[in-house]
Amino acid sequence: MAIKLQVGDCSDILKSVEPGSVDMVYLDPPFFTEKRHRLRNRDRSQEFVFDDLWGCHKKYAEFMALRLKLCRDCLSEEGSIFVHCDPTANHIIRTILDELFGRENFRSEIIWSYKRWSNSKSGLLPSHQNIYWYSKTSSFKFNRIFNGYSESTNIDQILQRRSRDAHGKSIYQRDENGEVVLDDDKVGVPLSDVWEIPYLNPKAKERVGYPTQKPILLLERIIEISTDPGDFVLDPFCGSGTTLVAAHLMKRDGLGIDVSQEAIELAQSRIESPIRSKSNLLEKGRDSYRTADKNAMVLLEGLDLNPVHRNKGIDAILKQTFDGGPVLIRVQRSHESLSEAANSLLKAARKKSCKLPILVKTHSDHDALFSEDTPEGVYVVGSAAMEISGLVEKLTAKVQNKQHFAVHGNTAAELIIQRAVQLKKGPSLL
Ligand SMILES: C[S@@+](CC[C@H](N)C(=O)[O-])C[C@H]1O[C@@H](n2cnc3c(N)ncnc32)[C@H](O)[C@@H]1O
Repeated sequence: MAIKLQVGDCSDILKSVEPGSVDMVYLDPPFFTEKRHRLRNRDRSQEFVFDDLWGCHKKYAEFMALRLKLCRDCLSEEGSIFVHCDPTANHIIRTILDELFGRENFRSEIIWSYKRWSNSKSGLLPSHQNIYWYSKTSSFKFNRIFNGYSESTNIDQILQRRSRDAHGKSIYQRDENGEVVLDDDKVGVPLSDVWEIPYLNPKAKERVGYPTQKPILLLERIIEISTDPGDFVLDPFCGSGTTLVAAHLMKRDGLGIDVSQEAIELAQSRIESPIRSKSNLLEKGRDSYRTADKNAMVLLEGLDLNPVHRNKGIDAILKQTFDGGPVLIRVQRSHESLSEAANSLLKAARKKSCKLPILVKTHSDHDALFSEDTPEGVYVVGSAAMEISGLVEKLTAKVQNKQHFAVHGNTAAELIIQRAVQLKKGPSLL
């Protein structure tokens, strides 16, 4: 069957799905936001819209209860359902699921957590959604996933086998000689119910412009823990088809339903040419994002600023603004000439409407003949090390000059002219 898509109200279409034939249902229905969701695709040629307007929570609850019951009927005995919602109506969804599946079949509340940067309302920044996992019966399919140990895990916990003492307390196992027993099958930490998966950023290639589009990565994880290749996945509110794209990539069969014709067409095109954004956060870990140059930060210590990660041109933004724009700072790297550093800063500053880009000069260009021109549009300040060594050099030259004058009678000006004439002539053959 592979992947099939159908337009229509899922309450109608679900009735035609063979009972017990589905291995996993994932649904991301309207969240009871009382909003009309709309968004345009990348080239702004098409707008996608869906309504999440109810008037009262009873209507929403009735709508959901009917469709969740139909989903349950489709599930196989080993099957599971994952219902995506957020704190707006998670209490309503949870109550319905408890009634339909039984509290004993509640498996987990998955917290999908992600970083967000702004909040229009006062209060805590919402940065998670809820996914309720219920199984049809107690003998449900579950594929275990293990993660690596965290940096703070005690090395003994990784290496040593555990057993229980006479009181049932967990202890490190020892052999007859009192030596610790090494554990050869420590495979990592079982996947927890808090999933940190980045929200699709506005520039992600995977983003198709469908409102509330979910990341493929999130669906891949749900599919991985609950199904095997060849199993059947159903998404009755499929929107842009994220679940079906993930199912297709993971060699599962599937059915996607949506009431919107545009959504189904979009889902079809995504399945035909799937684009999946990689997550650097997941592949390299959060530390890989902390790329602000440590040496640069040391030089800027004492300033009230925000370090900038993942930007080639800027190291920090001053918390103080200038003429309505940000004050951007870059520290010259040891391998960079002043103009190279200035160009990187200027390029980044132009995009951010910055009128005060400040470059911290850390060394002189060895290739510069007389002096280095201050790059236009950038304010250059010397680092403390640069200023101090410059000062010492200048004062040393002054002292040597004085001594030279005492011996040879030349003025400093005469010496500079002599040096300039020498350089113009080229190196002396004598
Ligand atoms: C939150 S969106 C799903 C987004 C999707 N998970 C994605 O990644 O693109 C909810 C979807 O439910 C659809 N919908 C609303 N009522 C429906 C119904 N009765 N039957 C089927 N689909 C419905 C909407 O058109 C919308 O596309």
